Amino acid sequence: MDKARVREIVERWVIPSPGSSYMGGIEERPVLASGHGSTVVDTTGKEYLDFQSGQMGAALGHSHPRVMAAIQEATRTFVHASNTLLNVPRLRLHERLGQLLVPPLQKSLFLVTGSDSIEASVDLARKATGGLEILGLHDGLHGSTSFISRSLSFAWSRRKHAAVAPATSAIFAPYCYRCPVASTFPKCEFLCLTSSLELADANLTAQPAAVIAEPVLSAGGVIVPPPGYFKALRQACQERGMLMILDEAQTGLGKCGKMFAFQHEDVVPDILALSKHFGGGLPVSAVCTTAEIADRAVARGYFATRSHATDPILCAAGLASLDVIVDEDLPGRAARIERRMKAGFEEMAKEFEIIGDIRGRGVLLGVELVTDRERKTPANKETDAIARRCLEAGLIFQIRGGGPGRANVLRFVPPMTTSDVEIDRALSILHDAFTAAAGRKSPVGKPSSVTGSLSR
Ligand SMILES: Cc1ncc(COP(=O)(O)O)c(C=O)c1O
Repeated sequence: MDKARVREIVERWVIPSPGSSYMGGIEERPVLASGHGSTVVDTTGKEYLDFQSGQMGAALGHSHPRVMAAIQEATRTFVHASNTLLNVPRLRLHERLGQLLVPPLQKSLFLVTGSDSIEASVDLARKATGGLEILGLHDGLHGSTSFISRSLSFAWSRRKHAAVAPATSAIFAPYCYRCPVASTFPKCEFLCLTSSLELADANLTAQPAAVIAEPVLSAGGVIVPPPGYFKALRQACQERGMLMILDEAQTGLGKCGKMFAFQHEDVVPDILALSKHFGGGLPVSAVCTTAEIADRAVARGYFATRSHATDPILCAAGLASLDVIVDEDLPGRAARIERRMKAGFEEMAKEFEIIGDIRGRGVLLGVELVTDRERKTPANKETDAIARRCLEAGLIFQIRGGGPGRANVLRFVPPMTTSDVEIDRALSILHDAFTAAAGRKSPVGKPSSVTGSLSR
């Protein structure tokens, strides 16, 4: 499909969404035709390394053969079914997921999107506690449905939305690189949390129901809370009769080097939301909780579903996805990818002053760019130029950053199945882009290499 035809369709028929500005208008961006493993191919035949795993739904790699086989089998047998009846893939998925959960988490319900899982998690917490208020981290993002999930997506600027839900408010995110309370860890003793809660206690008018958080704040700039933060948050919840909801859309099911990212923190949430690659590329999400919380909420009338929430084809894809994650040890592979990529970033940080911070877990990684390391001025323009150059050279990732005026974090989310060769290729493209941004020249005809010193 040529550019003129794409432009014609977009201008006439598409309601545009802003997306990644460095790629230009939506009509300027690659038109994708296929995807396999870590590679996507556009209509001109150009290949890209997809280091954002689609919209993070392809963390097993595009078109994983075992997921494809499960989908094909379902197309032969049973695609859609009533959500008021049970079906075999649905039952198997509840059981398989339940076996992987960390006790006392045990029970699950299925929905379609990540935003669905947040709406349903919040409602579950409200029914179970009888409370109303929900607190979220100010650099967090939890979805785009027009009521709860968007209202709790403080990293997205609530001013973009026509209206936000009542009884939703923010507490400071523990963004240590840019501490919101100008302190330093561990001397701070989680001042961001204690000061936020003091304010919340003064402001809240109803019984609070829950705090919601991502274990790694992805869209907010790949922010990794410091060790002990989630234990302190758990404690604060208990003192106030609130539940802790963890949104593991982007961190769960292997991506952070363990089955669930909360396992890095030695806490277990009351409610866990899963989505993105749970369906191996098809949309299926889950809300998981303890039997006690589920029973209490259901006794008070709780239920959550969607017409397609328990479709056999989606459940079969989810089941295949869980099997792949376990059988191929994808958490272990994610941990190895983290070591290799961070080693590459650290080598580059010795060469390029623009790299201010390197962070993340597993295959959810961020590199924050600043014009000077002392003042940490966000290098928004340079970030855009680097991302554009990488796209031209065949590497796709997204730009993120929390707070107004900050779009300076390169966020890399390669599929957990990405090979060492592909990682090294991505690092090499990135190195060339940094070289160009610094006004230097790459050696002609010789791709740069930053991987020679990689030993981890
Ligand atoms: C952490 C997190 N939760 C929830 C969502 C919403 O998922 P969906 O777009 O499938 O509704 C997203 C989307 O990016 C997300 O990053």
